[in-house]
Amino acid sequence: MSTLYDGIAELVTNDPAQGDGTALGVISDGAILVEGEVIAWVGRQVDAPAAAQRVDCGGVGVIPGFVDSHAHLVFAGERSAEFAARMAGLPYAAGGIATTVAATRQADTATLTAGVGRLAGELLAAGVTTFESKSGYGLNVADESRSLVVAREFTSETTFLGAHVVPAEYRDNRDAYVELVTGPMLEACAPYARWIDVFCDRGAFDVDESRAILTAGRAAGLQLRVHAGQLGPSGGIQMAVQMGAASVDHCTFATDADIEAMAAGDTVATLLPGAEFSTRAPWPDARRMIEAGVTVAIATDCNPGSSFTTSMPFCIAVGVRDMNFTPAEALWAATAGGAAALRRDDIGVLAPGKRADFVCLDAPSYIHLAYRPGVPLIRTVVRGGQRV
Ligand code: NIG
Ligand code: FE
Repeated sequence: MSTLYDGIAELVTNDPAQGDGTALGVISDGAILVEGEVIAWVGRQVDAPAAAQRVDCGGVGVIPGFVDSHAHLVFAGERSAEFAARMAGLPYAAGGIATTVAATRQADTATLTAGVGRLAGELLAAGVTTFESKSGYGLNVADESRSLVVAREFTSETTFLGAHVVPAEYRDNRDAYVELVTGPMLEACAPYARWIDVFCDRGAFDVDESRAILTAGRAAGLQLRVHAGQLGPSGGIQMAVQMGAASVDHCTFATDADIEAMAAGDTVATLLPGAEFSTRAPWPDARRMIEAGVTVAIATDCNPGSSFTTSMPFCIAVGVRDMNFTPAEALWAATAGGAAALRRDDIGVLAPGKRADFVCLDAPSYIHLAYRPGVPLIRTVVRGGQRV
């Protein structure tokens, strides 16, 4: 069954071969032909091929579905009091993670599954058609593997983050925890994960520990992603590039040398505007990274501590306002950039053969995502060719 979506005033394809020839490949008065789960054709509406059925988008803007390459959705409880204390002046530190670990270990699996389901629904309503989710609030063999089994019900982009922090019971024996993460925990978790991640930062894991954990993960068949440079410069960003990680995330305290390394390597810098917003951290400068030649993604970092948002439009607006993205760069970062951070070439671009994942906006242009902050502009979400 083929469906032609037309009446698209401004169609962002992320295919520079299309339309205006910019990175966004913007086609005016465009149309998309969908066959099953994939795109069969995109172009000007006047050139559209015949289709079995037609959907008139009503003269709005259409963009690729957002790709959220960084989220922590499997957890129990919430930390609003910690947020309020921070807004009253307390600094953010990795220590708050322990609160969520305690709640997550106590929760039954149905509660964890319902929590992920609720957040996955919020992401979809916000236009996110692909998302990643990490473990990292179990921090023992049973609860880390259980977290990944739960995440797997909702996404194939699952990430083992046993190295989120050292849990309290190993505080005086860090080496034993690293042995657990690289041994029995990895063995139990690898079957349910595509990725391994490590929080390489002050109060979490140092560069040597992180390297050992990533090396073990790779040997177990997982691909690499890294949290680094959130709380201070740690050496984690350059370590991630050296290890060939797909993405290094946060980069709040990226140095010139870090940016140079990212530009020379093929590790994406994933910026997380919700985290700087919710922890009152300094803003990383996306402009500096993009101009240096770094591939930059935007993700929500949805988690109960540092960034409890599922709204990619909010992250885009903050990215534009405070991280010096242009609206075009921010949209690219939240779609094609996220796809690059997940090393996916089937999503993030609207072109023949790609997955039919796109969003009809309640606005004539994608610029409104930043221009009208906080306004719900996601009208219709099409995922795998299905309106959801
Ligand atoms: O990405 N940085 C480490 N992990 C999360 C925060 C987790 C938490 O505070 O619960 C992050 O910001
Ligand atoms: Fe994170």
